[in-house]
Amino acid sequence: MGKYIIGNIVHAVQVNKLEILTNHLIYVNGNIIERCSPFSEAEFKPQSHEEVIYLTQTQFLFPGFVDTHIHAPQYPNTGIFGESTLLDWLQKYTFPTEGRFKDISNAKDVYSKLIKRQLNNGTTTSSYYGTIHVPATIELAKLCLEQNMRGRIGRVCMEKFCPEFLNDGSIESDIQFIEEMERLDPSGAMVKPIITPRFAPSCEFSTLKGLGELAEKKKLSIQTHVSENLNEIKWVKELFKTKSYCDVYDEAGLLKKDTILAHAIHLTDDELNLIKERDCGISHCPDSNAALASGIAPVKKYLRRKVKVGLGTDVSAGCTVSVLKNARLALLMSRLLTQRESESLEIDKLNKDKSSSLTVDEALSMATLGGAQVMSMDKEIGNFEIGKKLDAQIVDIASDNSEIDIFDMSLPSNEIDRVRYYLNKWVYIGDDRNTVCVFVDGKKVVSKI
Ligand code: GUN
Ligand code: FE
Repeated sequence: MGKYIIGNIVHAVQVNKLEILTNHLIYVNGNIIERCSPFSEAEFKPQSHEEVIYLTQTQFLFPGFVDTHIHAPQYPNTGIFGESTLLDWLQKYTFPTEGRFKDISNAKDVYSKLIKRQLNNGTTTSSYYGTIHVPATIELAKLCLEQNMRGRIGRVCMEKFCPEFLNDGSIESDIQFIEEMERLDPSGAMVKPIITPRFAPSCEFSTLKGLGELAEKKKLSIQTHVSENLNEIKWVKELFKTKSYCDVYDEAGLLKKDTILAHAIHLTDDELNLIKERDCGISHCPDSNAALASGIAPVKKYLRRKVKVGLGTDVSAGCTVSVLKNARLALLMSRLLTQRESESLEIDKLNKDKSSSLTVDEALSMATLGGAQVMSMDKEIGNFEIGKKLDAQIVDIASDNSEIDIFDMSLPSNEIDRVRYYLNKWVYIGDDRNTVCVFVDGKKVVSKI
């Protein structure tokens, strides 16, 4: 069925640029955006079976968020990390929880609640890590299909530095998982498997290589962690006797166009060059990086080098499923990085060319188009280009219980400036209460109005 959405529309047209379209019309045929043009009341003649949604003055249509890195089984642990940092956090909090997903009823309970919470926060596509367990991870895919979350679903491959109950590095398990996924969604339009070695220390080199070959053979994307924590990096170099962390993955054939590298905080210049050369994407996870005191990734530098960057919530090292909050943290942490660098390097604080500070446009673009690029899905989703699928949210700055107060006395009179003012309020103060409607694949899947 055809659907019109009429009002103010905002989307990223480049990784550093949001386009604000006031008083526009989007026409969606089924799940595909067929038109996006200025709205003219006089010429508007919808047919009786077509749905028409008029946005109010305080609303705008925005693309659905893309969460490029989230661990579904860790959802029960959000907020629970104590004083730990990465390596002890994994042993103390994470592995015991992931072990419980041997029981499929835990998967049904946790995963259905997680997906509901993500959709409620405007996330319409996710790149998930499950656990080593094939049945529980297949359950995650089934629930994504049922609840309308687009995604990549990874069975986690790990066989070292883990308790016995979380040890399954067999490629046969991955093949079984992939075959079951192919039966579930043969087209892969909604859910598709993704090859997921947990991180270099979890796997023998031969296993990493085997996974690289499997990804190549099955034409699948890859996701893993890289360069998150200084002790981890030192350990990887000792374990594999390589010059750098990225070299391990490169030698195993894992660095490719659709590889998602989570964190990438402490990269050397050579590693950044390698990532750029191989055209891999980076999942920036600022909430997680602050919680586990991992560091501040120099994202502005990555964007300047034209490396693809999206945002990841990294639940439960990150405490929230909200990509919006991660956009906010990306902004705030980038400003701290500028401050730190300006002190140590004595860079002129006003020299914009050298600043590490992100802009609101960059943060919201990473949350949508950047994420789609990182997941190699930017031909399908990420913004409202004609021909893409409608994954979107209606944002209302004045929704019920909104945390945002708007004062007429400070509202810009020009329409474009007013929408931009709303965008700033939303990214710094907003939350799930401002996301009042969510569409995935053209279907309305959340409605609070
Ligand atoms: N490195 C290896 N496993 C994990 C994980 O589950 N979360 C994070 N943040 N880093 C990891
Ligand atoms: Fe992670």
